[in-house]
Amino acid sequence: MKEEFKVYQKVFDNRTIMTLYQLSKKYFRTIGGPIKTGKESDVYLLYTKEGGKIVAKIYKIETSNFRNMWKYIKGDSRFPYIGKEKKKLVYAWTEKEFRNLWTARRMGIPAPEPIAFKNNVLLMEFIGDDSPAPIAKYHPPKDPKRWYKLIMGYIDKMEKEGFVHGDLSEFNILNWNEKPILIDWSQSVFRDHPLFEELLERDRNNMERWFSSLGV
Ligand SMILES: Nc1ncnc2c1ncn2[C@@H]1O[C@H](COP(=O)(O)OP(=O)(O)O)[C@@H](O)[C@H]1O
Ligand SMILES: [Mg+2]
Repeated sequence: MKEEFKVYQKVFDNRTIMTLYQLSKKYFRTIGGPIKTGKESDVYLLYTKEGGKIVAKIYKIETSNFRNMWKYIKGDSRFPYIGKEKKKLVYAWTEKEFRNLWTARRMGIPAPEPIAFKNNVLLMEFIGDDSPAPIAKYHPPKDPKRWYKLIMGYIDKMEKEGFVHGDLSEFNILNWNEKPILIDWSQSVFRDHPLFEELLERDRNNMERWFSSLGV
């Protein structure tokens, strides 16, 4: 394995390093560093062979809230055979976010383009310019009314198609040069999921609350 990956032994478990190594053969050359680290996942900047930027979202197998994951995966007809083994659940969760990103983009919702997934690692388009686009919570839109219409329109569009983001908040929207990009799609489900209506209402309420705090 490349020397370069060995320095990450302090940060990632061996399985994850192997997964990153395998993905690197096809999709990237070097690891740029963390964009954000957290209990459940880390988001890393990667550089491609051409010098472009992409992002890896790396789910943590040991510290993931797997009761929560189970709740969302259990009723999902795309994952009918998923057991309760922690590792497999996290892998399914990763695949779920990858597929949800495709679904959202197919519906015309602005979200990072998914590139690949393997085990607990999801590769996607980097949203940003020199630095990552800021989170809308800390970098609210200059024209909140315009965003309100856009985002409520996205929720309606997805509802018509029988899909819901499920964790929509000002923390999961990036403000990319005044364009909202919706991220963090792992919880999204289709209409056949028992939580569909509840999540839809929660997403709408979160947006109503946030936009009214911005004076809309
Ligand atoms: N595609 C991306 N491009 C740029 N930054 C990103 C991207 N995806 C995630 N991030 C950054 O990583 C943070 C965490 O990502 P998110 O998907 O919301 O994971 P979490 O489950 O930890 O909330 C985001 O708030 C954002 O700052
Ligand atoms: Mg998030």
